[in-house]
Amino acid sequence: MRVGVLASGDGSNLQAILDRVHGREGVEVVAVGSDKPEARALERARAAGVDARAFPVEGGDRRARDLAIADWLADAGVDLVVLAGYMQLLDPGFLARFPQRVINVHPALLPAFPGIGSVEQAVAYGVKVFGVTVHFVDEGVDTGPIIAQRAIDVPDGIDGAGLRLALRPLEHELLPAVVELIARGRVAVDPGNPRHVRVA
Ligand code: GRF
Repeated sequence: MRVGVLASGDGSNLQAILDRVHGREGVEVVAVGSDKPEARALERARAAGVDARAFPVEGGDRRARDLAIADWLADAGVDLVVLAGYMQLLDPGFLARFPQRVINVHPALLPAFPGIGSVEQAVAYGVKVFGVTVHFVDEGVDTGPIIAQRAIDVPDGIDGAGLRLALRPLEHELLPAVVELIARGRVAVDPGNPRHVRVA
């Protein structure tokens, strides 16, 4: 299974995929793209010998950018697109190119706290349990069918930065694990109820 990863920032989730599943179980990360030329994720990809490219928006045309990314990933023969800290919404035209083949990791137990600032919002709300979600991407903001979630108890008095740190190991375990499950053909959307994802 050929994997393309999109990432906007540090790329620690990309690194977890490179370290834990790349080159195993038939999984090959073949392309890493970013909206940010300075993203450390691109450096991490190049260090691993993976083709990496930035796609900054030119002339405000996000749709053209997304379609250029889709062309690049398709040319690389990508079967699965992983959003690993990719901070842009993808154009529906992009998603149509990879139906049920785009997944995202989000730092919250969806459907609570979608979108940016989820961890800080959860701390402000005073949640007692929190976690991470890996889900298929649809046209909404973190609204696609849930594939897997992991939760932890929230320690009293923790701040947003502390909780983000506590979530890191969960993300780094869960996202590569889901990539591997998909590679093994163990993840399927229930045809009778497309909100439900079966993990065998
Ligand atoms: C992760 O917390 C991810 O869930 C969120 O952005 C962060 C990206 O971190 N959407 P990294 O770039 O993978 O280190």
